[in-house]
Formats: sequence, structure tokens, C-alpha cells
Amino acid sequence: MNIGKLKLRGNLILAPMSFVTNLPFRLLCKKYGAALVYSEMTFSEAILRQNEKSLNRVYTTNEERPVGIQLLGSDPNSVINSAMIIEQKFHPELMDVNLGCPSQSIIKNECGAALLKKPEVIGEIISGLSGSLDVPITAKIRILNSLDETLKIAHIIEKAGADALIVHGRTQKQQYSGKSNLEFIKNIKSELSIPVIANGDIFDEKTQNMCLNILSATGS
Ligand SMILES: Cc1cc2nc3c(=O)[nH]c(=O)nc-3n(C[C@H](O)[C@H](O)[C@H](O)COP(=O)(O)O)c2cc1C
Repeated sequence: MNIGKLKLRGNLILAPMSFVTNLPFRLLCKKYGAALVYSEMTFSEAILRQNEKSLNRVYTTNEERPVGIQLLGSDPNSVINSAMIIEQKFHPELMDVNLGCPSQSIIKNECGAALLKKPEVIGEIISGLSGSLDVPITAKIRILNSLDETLKIAHIIEKAGADALIVHGRTQKQQYSGKSNLEFIKNIKSELSIPVIANGDIFDEKTQNMCLNILSATGS
């Protein structure tokens, strides 16, 4: 799979997980076959403040490359400026924007899944990032209640210049319960020209293959 100019060796990708996908965990996943690993989400404002814990969250080494750094923020300028700092300091292979975190404290700050209700802000963030950085840009969303609403957001992200879209097939309200809706993801994939990466309920080779079969099946 290619994400913009980034060529990946495979299609198995480690999703960003707060307090889980730190550097040692990412190195393990890389060792056992991940084609790309993502950092934990990190607040753009904290990077701008040079907060040490946050800078540690985005620290990377050559052994884990390619690596994507995920940013969380509500203000386009903060997200773009912090991404530029990270690009200069740590040289990740790509930058990602969190548009799916459902946690109350994040939603209260108008970040994560809260941005799915503000498509114009999403557009500003993605177009600002793609115009300011040399590396490919991805965005990670959750699905919305209807396929149409989800497709609207997906198209905005693509049009604004994202190089790939990651879709967690659960709504904000579902949090982590229920099943990831692969049919929604399949529909989004068929509408977009950029790669669409399915997320949710992929635990092992069997569930990965089931997911691939659903996404590639025609006529359903
Ligand atoms: C402990 C934990 C931390 C998470 N942190 C993040 C995060 O920092 N950024 C993000 O986009 N998603 C985060 N997620 C969501 C995962 O990336 C992924 O979308 C979700 O777990 C997929 O569902 P699954 O558990 O069915 O595979 C987190 C999930 C868990 C369980």
C-alpha cells in the first residue's frame, strides 16, 4: 500500500492507542510485522508549550520507521504549528489527526470525535497540514449515524488533501462496544480515491482476512 509518497511493505498497521503505543510497544509491533506504527495521540497545545511528557510521546527512533505521529487539537493553527515542530524535530514518515476520540474530557475540549460535527474545521486542519508539511497526512475518524453523513466527512478530508483515511467502524456513542461496521467502511472505500484503512475488531490473521474479504467483496 502507498500513502502518498510513503510506500509500505504490507497492509497491517498498528492503530494509535493512548498509554499503549509508546516507543517500546511500537518497536515490538514493528518486529512482529506491522508495516506502519502510530504513536499515542498527543495534544497539539502541549507540543506548542514544549511540555516534556508530550514531547516524549512523539519521540521516535530509526528502528521503528515508518512511524506516524497522531495529533489531537481543535484549533487549526495549533495543530498545524505543532505538526511543523514535530516534523522538524523528529522526522516522522507521516502525520495523523485524531477525529475520533470519544472520551468525555476530549469532547469537552472540542477535540477528537467532537470535530466530526465541525466539517469546516476539519477541512482547515487537513488543508493546512497538507500545505505546510512535506510528509503525507492521514486522518482517523469514527463513523457517524448514517452512511451519508460519514461520506460527507470522508469527502471533505480527501478534498482537503489527506493521503489516506482511517475509519474506525463504531460511532462516538458506541465508544468501544458493539461491532465495527465494515459495510460502512466498504462503502467509504468505494467512494474515495485515497486509501481507506479499516479499523476495529481486527485481532489476528483470521479477523484480518475476514475484514479483507468483506472490503473486497462485490455486490453486497
Ligand atoms: C486503550 C486505548 C487507547 C486508545 N487510544 C487512541 C488514540 O490515542 N488515538 C486514536 O485515534 N484511537 C485510540 N484508540 C482507538 C483505537 O485506535 C482503535 O480505533 C479501536 O481500539 C479499534 O477498536 P478495536 O479495539 O475493536 O480494535 C484507543 C483504544 C484503546 C483501547
